[in-house]
Amino acid sequence: MKMLKLNLSTAALFAALLACGPAPARGVDIAQADRTGKLISIAAAHFGVLLQLGSDGRLYQVDSGRRLSPSSLYGQLSTDEVDDLLARPEAMVFTNGGKLDRETEYHPAFGDGFISEPAVQATHADGNNSTDLIFVTNQSTRLDSNITLTHIELKDRYYPFFVTLCVKAYHDQDVLEQWTEFRHDEDGTVTLFRFASSSSVIQSNQYWLTQLHGDWANEGNLEEDKLGMGMTILDSKIGVRAGRFRTPSFLLSIRNPAQEESGEVYGGTLEWSGSFQFAFDVNWQGQLRVLCGINPFASQYPLARGQVFKTPAMLWTWSEAGKGRVSRNFHRWARLYGVRDAGQPRPIVLNNWEATGFNFTESRIVSLFDGARELGADLFLLDDGWFANKYPRNNDGAGLGDWQVNTNKLPRGLSFLAGEAKQRGIRFGIWLEPEMVNPRSELYERHPEWAMAEPHRQPEVSRNQLDLDLTRPEAREFAWKVIENTLGSNPGISYVKWDANRYVTQPGSTYLKPDEQSRLLIDYNFALYDIMARMASNYPSVTAMLCSGGAGRADYGALKYFHTFWPSDNTDPLHRVFIQWGFSQFFPACALSDHVTKMGSRPFKFTLDVALSGTLGLDMDVAKMTAAERKATTAAINLYKQSLRDIVCQGDLYRLDSPYEGPRSAISYVTPDRARAALFVYQIQDAADQPVKLRGLDPAAKYLLREVNLPDGAVSRLPADGKTFDGAVLMGDGLAPNCQKQFESAVVELTRQ
Ligand code: GLA
Repeated sequence: MKMLKLNLSTAALFAALLACGPAPARGVDIAQADRTGKLISIAAAHFGVLLQLGSDGRLYQVDSGRRLSPSSLYGQLSTDEVDDLLARPEAMVFTNGGKLDRETEYHPAFGDGFISEPAVQATHADGNNSTDLIFVTNQSTRLDSNITLTHIELKDRYYPFFVTLCVKAYHDQDVLEQWTEFRHDEDGTVTLFRFASSSSVIQSNQYWLTQLHGDWANEGNLEEDKLGMGMTILDSKIGVRAGRFRTPSFLLSIRNPAQEESGEVYGGTLEWSGSFQFAFDVNWQGQLRVLCGINPFASQYPLARGQVFKTPAMLWTWSEAGKGRVSRNFHRWARLYGVRDAGQPRPIVLNNWEATGFNFTESRIVSLFDGARELGADLFLLDDGWFANKYPRNNDGAGLGDWQVNTNKLPRGLSFLAGEAKQRGIRFGIWLEPEMVNPRSELYERHPEWAMAEPHRQPEVSRNQLDLDLTRPEAREFAWKVIENTLGSNPGISYVKWDANRYVTQPGSTYLKPDEQSRLLIDYNFALYDIMARMASNYPSVTAMLCSGGAGRADYGALKYFHTFWPSDNTDPLHRVFIQWGFSQFFPACALSDHVTKMGSRPFKFTLDVALSGTLGLDMDVAKMTAAERKATTAAINLYKQSLRDIVCQGDLYRLDSPYEGPRSAISYVTPDRARAALFVYQIQDAADQPVKLRGLDPAAKYLLREVNLPDGAVSRLPADGKTFDGAVLMGDGLAPNCQKQFESAVVELTRQ
């Protein structure tokens, strides 16, 4: 190994390359030999990737995971040496004569000798199916004290075809956010067949992959499998409501199955609500390549000269202290950058869906306001069924698309309802599904061509509805007007539940040209984000819940425009223990709506205790609750507002006992200053009482324990209630929650003394 300093002429060449912006003209090879060995580091506090330029002009990944570890550069350099090199951008390192393993190429393309699954595949304007990407420039810009943005420009060795790799490193949260931008200056259209957002290489002897899968009313299931040789794909191909069967997130554990508090684990989640693909390719050398991005299936993208195609971003984090830290990294990132207004307290919503379904009148709704007020809720959310007249929305078979108030049910309109709510001191919210249409609707009678459909095929409905084609400007404008007309003309509405209840099976557009059809599912989601972004910026004080027939859109692509998402229509608290455990791997509690309902007929304290560990809400007919239930709910809401909400929504999550592995689930949240914590224990099967060991506390501090959310008049059965313990003892010996029978539960507040 030899380290060289650039001589002046090389430095001048490098400066010239940087200065000339877009890469050199076609046919000009890029003189890079002198730069062979150049290192590029992209790093957060403890996690990063290290890249190196090979003698063939290609960019290679030489390390990932622990930032600049002694294993960097195949173990040839010490950490100090690597630090030294990176401090001097002119420093150069030669390894193996500059020849690097093709399998470790950072963002490989198809057609240049790379034989595994590529990150890029394109057909050039002249029909050439091959792409040969070489490094041109890199540039890092510090956006603020926490974020550094790196651009790495690659170019085809012959064609004016450019691929820019973009990575934002969030230092304190240990998160890398990566996307790719494509553009070209060829004479005609280039078709993109593969366009990964990220394409990382990980080197170990075993890889364990955890996915989050499910279906309607059965979301958030975790499953872990060992990756075998070859390709494993986790994906969605259904375009809209695309997360119905699988959420675009995963955990990847190195060497062993993922542990909660130990071991090397990567976490990945894609900021995209459409079809996605995660391809895990273990090659003959045992290296793993992980390709993440929009699913290229049936989605080749024609790119006009000068047009920029920007992929959605992939979020990566990494921990050598298990999946617990992976989750905390994502949560901390999300609270600052990923979820709307995450620092603001979420209102307590009372929703009428489970209480009334489609069947209600104005007076019935107004009567529910009184109950909401009595319990201490902040807002009443009117769900589906309030609109359409010619084809009234009395069930899911008609009316979608006709967003006029149903005058039979609500003769005095939405503003009247919002006013009635205001008089009772609560806010008013509304359910919308702006992207969809029932064939039995006036909208469909007027504009059947606005729905997605394939020529010569019978339209195939699901939940009796079709997707509007948002690539068509009139349909897009219509969807926006649904929001604007509802919110703009009813300023009393301050909450929206945005739903989307079907996926795509016939991705055809009467608007797009025949040779553009394959971009429909991608452009649909870009158009969708435009509308969501307009809603967020035009109505900044309207709180928004993201729903998609349950959790069909649990992703950070949409969440930046929403305050919470709806994790499932299954609100049975026994199932919710698992569902919340699953989503908590990637999403913070301030983003998970948790409603108290009657589903499952579980003991009421258990129901309340489960809902208290997320963003609390209710879906109940207060008139049908017993006096004891009303009292317990009012007390729980008070407790939540006064002390639990900020611990749960702003604290760090520690998952203590997994419901997948034993008879109970236990989690805790600890405030960032470790001054307060909340412990939640849910017994899901009968078992002897066992101490639960806390985590994340200050070991040297003393904490006062207080069991909360006890039924009226009940005395705590916790031996530790009202006593003070050292943090070290609570984490070492634990505390007995005195839960033994199925559905016993406990909530304990800890306060540093
Ligand atoms: C979806 C949602 C439910 C409810 C109904 C209304 O299924 O997940 O919460 O809003 O739509 O039709």
